[in-house]
Amino acid sequence: MLLAGLRGFITGAGAGIGRAIALEMVREGADLYITDLDGTAAERTAAEAQQLRPEAHLYAAPLDVRAAAAVAACVEEAVARLGGLELAVNNAGVSSMGRVVELSEEDWDFNMDVNAKGVFLCCQAEVRALLRLGGRGSIVNIASMAGKKAAPLLAHYSASKFAVIGFTQALALETAEAGIRVNAVCPGYVRTSMQEREVVWEARLRGISQEEVIADYLRAIPLGRLEEPEDVARVVTFLLSDRAAYITGQAIDVNGGAFMA
Ligand SMILES: NC(=O)c1ccc[n+]([C@@H]2O[C@H](COP(=O)([O-])OP(=O)(O)OC[C@H]3O[C@@H](n4cnc5c(N)ncnc54)[C@H](O)[C@@H]3O)[C@@H](O)[C@H]2O)c1
Repeated sequence: MLLAGLRGFITGAGAGIGRAIALEMVREGADLYITDLDGTAAERTAAEAQQLRPEAHLYAAPLDVRAAAAVAACVEEAVARLGGLELAVNNAGVSSMGRVVELSEEDWDFNMDVNAKGVFLCCQAEVRALLRLGGRGSIVNIASMAGKKAAPLLAHYSASKFAVIGFTQALALETAEAGIRVNAVCPGYVRTSMQEREVVWEARLRGISQEEVIADYLRAIPLGRLEEPEDVARVVTFLLSDRAAYITGQAIDVNGGAFMA
């Protein structure tokens, strides 16, 4: 098991990619503090994970990553419950769609607050805890293919994910000496509720059918299938583990070849 004996904290793990990462981390031997804006969804993921490995120490709590004081308190609670901390995954994210000329200030703030500020607040609390605990640790932030390649109708989302990658690189430089690795992962077209919502919006904005939107996605993916949350989860657990001991400050593409840096 890649993460045996290690203790982790994760955000946005009630559904989609975060849920798959939480399950994979527990399968790989980690004890885990599982959070989501929707506390009931976090509890559901924890219950599923417990079935995978009944002896795992698992906790679930509601957490909005935009709330600085709540983030700090939640990370401290995780350290106390787990008896320490080595791993963190900052996955919580949102999207909306629109052309820049029509985009509202609320859309911009919503994407930047959850995706960019949320990653900052979580990393800050996690790194403070890791340093206090003596350093050493591995953090993974979930960015996006849209964090490297501009996407129409997603300028505000793209900006928030470019921010995650720049922030990840700077933090990796600051924490390397303490033995804390910080990386990002950039998924492509992943089959989650976020994608379901985006397909509806994109079809409406482009005046085409939802089937045509999916067909466009598939044409853009050399590996010829949509991405599954588990495709992302396996790369995240690798980056968290000692197998990736010499990798820091990277933004790893997991996109079926849809974008090559
Ligand atoms: N689905 C994709 O195609 C795709 C592609 C690239 C990157 N991503 C990124 O992957 C991450 C997960 O996306 P997903 O597709 O699983 O989305 P999803 O909408 O299916 O799940 C997101 C989860 O995050 C939670 N969440 C939302 N706002 C939150 C907040 N303020 N605080 C805490 N939790 C919150 C939701 O309750 C939900 O459980 C996001 O950062 C997203 O930007 C997704």
